[in-house]
Formats: sequence, C-alpha cells, structure tokens
Amino acid sequence: MNRPIRSYVLRQGRTTPAQKRALEELFPKYGIAFSHQSVSSPRGAPLVLEIGSGMGETTLEIAKAHPEADFIAIEVHGPGVGSLLNAIEREQLANLRVIRHDALDVLEHMITDASLAAIHLFFPDPWPKKRHHKRRMVQPAFAALAARKLKDGGILHAATDWPDYAEHMDAVFSKEPLLEQAADGFTSRPVTKFESRGQRLGHPIRELLFRRAGKAPAAR
Ligand SMILES: C[S@@+](CC[C@H](N)C(=O)[O-])C[C@H]1O[C@@H](n2cnc3c(N)ncnc32)[C@H](O)[C@@H]1O
Repeated sequence: MNRPIRSYVLRQGRTTPAQKRALEELFPKYGIAFSHQSVSSPRGAPLVLEIGSGMGETTLEIAKAHPEADFIAIEVHGPGVGSLLNAIEREQLANLRVIRHDALDVLEHMITDASLAAIHLFFPDPWPKKRHHKRRMVQPAFAALAARKLKDGGILHAATDWPDYAEHMDAVFSKEPLLEQAADGFTSRPVTKFESRGQRLGHPIRELLFRRAGKAPAAR
C-alpha cells in the first residue's frame, strides 16, 4: 500500500526515566524490531495483534486473562511502549510482545496472510475534523489488509467513543467482502482509564465486531 498519510503525529510527550530505561533495557527482551520478517507464535498459539496499544493497560489485562493466546501490541508512541514494557517485566508475562512501528507497515510486512486469530483496534485516534478524516486508520484499504491477515473466522474487534467514526467503521467493514458481522470478540475488552474518561464526558462507546468469513474462531 502506498500511503504517505499517517494516522498519527508523534507527540513530543515526556518520557519518564523508567520508560526510557525500559525502552533501552527491556525492548531487547520483550520487543520485536520492525523488519520484513514475518512473526508468528513460537508455540503455535492463536496470535492476536493490537493496533495502537497506547499506554498498554487493556493489552496487559487481556494478555494476563488469556495465557492460551499470544499477543503483539503495536504502538508508535515511545512513552506508551516504555510503560507496557515495564508492565510486562513486572507481571513476568510470557505471551505479550511489543513492536514500536507504524501498525500498517507491520501488518503488511510482518504478518503472514490468514494467520491472525484476532486484530484489536481500541479507540483509534478519531481525527474529528473533516479535513483530517483521511488520517483515520479505518479506510477501505485498511479493512482489506486486516481481513487478509485474519484466518478464517478470525475477529476484527474495534471500539470507539466517536459516533461518526463508529458509523464510518461500520460502513467500511460492512463493505469489505472478506468480513461479516460477528456476535462476540475473541476476548472480552476490559474498560480502560481512557474509556472511563470518555464515559464521564458522556461519549457513547460503540463496539464493532466483524469476522473473516469462514469457520468460527478456534478459541475464546
Ligand atoms: C487514542 S489512542 C488509544 C490508545 C489505547 N488503544 C486505549 O484505548 O487507551 C490511539 C493510539 O494509537 C496509536 N497509533 C495511531 N496510529 C498508529 C499507527 N499507524 N501505528 C501504531 N500506533 C498508532 C497512537 O500513538 C495512540 O497511542
């Protein structure tokens, strides 16, 4: 995919000393460097990819609750990656790895077609201004790429608190021929601090569940 427009702007947010240390010392242990080599579960477990893991709270909760699956969190924001690396070390989690790179490049170059049990896209940047809508992660090309990477029955699970982005996602995913509506996620989704703030502000949360047309997913 030729894609000069990015879905993020790298903020110059403060990296704490603990996050900085994690990026230097823990990335070699729990991180995967971007490359054109495909990744898979070393033990043949179902593989779940989370796009834009932020500070990583949801990712961590889900990975802890599902030791039977392997998880890869993708995030471009250094402090978030650092926090998640520290949490993985603290919890001694063996089923969660982190990639610090644009998730679209990761999907395209590091993920084999028809290999993922699920893709999680929780609260992607909403880019609310109309002139910025082209920066939104969910576009027809994203839906096609994500669907291609899911195995038959694999789940695309998105959530947003922006009603017009939810409608847009629903329309885009519904038009993708490889996807169909699903009733359940591969895992449930814990409520995050980010989401609670949205709820306090009265933002309705929309959950979008699609699956790659084919058999039902093997594990729940
Ligand atoms: C609004 S935050 C939500 C974070 C988290 N999922 C949550 O629910 O708290 C969106 C995150 O997606 C990340 N992001 C946006 N575009 C990305 C991309 N192309 N690749 C990787 N991460 C991306 C941003 O850096 C940001 O941390």
